[in-house]
Amino acid sequence: PLRTIQKDLLSLASVPRESVQALLLLAARLKDMQRRGKPHAWLAGRTIGLLFQKASTRTRVSFEVGMNQLGGQALFLPIGDIQLSRGESIADTARVLSRYLDGLVIRTYDQTIVEEWAREATVPVINGLTDLHHPCQALSDLLTIQEKKGRLKALRLAYVGDGNNMTNSLIEAAVKVGMSVSCGCPKGYQPDSTVVEQARQEAAKTGSAIELSDDPEVAVKDADIVYTDVWISMGQEREQARRLKAFSDYQVNERLMKRARPDAIVMHCLPAHRGEEISAKVLDGPQSVVLDQAENRLHMQKAILVELVRPLGRAQT
Ligand code: CP
Ligand code: NVA
Repeated sequence: PLRTIQKDLLSLASVPRESVQALLLLAARLKDMQRRGKPHAWLAGRTIGLLFQKASTRTRVSFEVGMNQLGGQALFLPIGDIQLSRGESIADTARVLSRYLDGLVIRTYDQTIVEEWAREATVPVINGLTDLHHPCQALSDLLTIQEKKGRLKALRLAYVGDGNNMTNSLIEAAVKVGMSVSCGCPKGYQPDSTVVEQARQEAAKTGSAIELSDDPEVAVKDADIVYTDVWISMGQEREQARRLKAFSDYQVNERLMKRARPDAIVMHCLPAHRGEEISAKVLDGPQSVVLDQAENRLHMQKAILVELVRPLGRAQT
């Protein structure tokens, strides 16, 4: 399992290709077991903590329900409710919580904060979204794409809009499985340059490509998957006016979809803003797979937990 290679899941760049494949297989197996009502209480007696500094619907509920279905428990610990908000350090909090809990899911702002949690905690730390990455979402999106397209290799994913945490993690995920990514993002809103540079090195090995453009029509041409996300991410509320202007020509709508392959699927991690990054017609239309995408968060979270959290009776090292 992944935990023999690394303790934490902070981003996908460091995750070996074989581990991504293993997670996809395990998630599909867990989904099938849950559908058929087969018990899989593999983490009985284990408890994880969810330390969230930003709002969440899907990530929180899928981790809580997932842990429950695995026979364990999850504690929701909003940062504002614990002593951390009154000045207790991350180091002290992480060390103390490691004495009670078997894993931590952190949703926060800067990537360096989740890295600090991982350094200080002796239990696995999972990135539940930072400003730079959203690895759990990108992994579950691979599962959705595989289900819908029957494969991952050599597919073309077009990402339109803000080159944000979602874009960075999708790029890192895609190159692990030989999928190409073509971004159509305005100048100044391209995905993280370090992420792109590293991913291009990996892409050279898996035979895929990362293309950047500021033209959504170029990005979407012949795409198998058209992906978008909000223009204003959590924490960027003050930039609203500037962002709405910068992205006004970057909406995923029926006109843009004509450029993609006729059998292309439309993806969005949600929450969505109909009429901004995506038209209601496309989001709610026949090409959209957003609800399956949301469901697959559950199955992939369970796979991640099984891979990283030690089952009861296995000593911590
Ligand atoms: N897609 C996603 O992470 O949703 P939440 O913010 O609701 O967790
Ligand atoms: N880019 C969005 C994703 C939300 C799941 C944000 O960071 O707010």
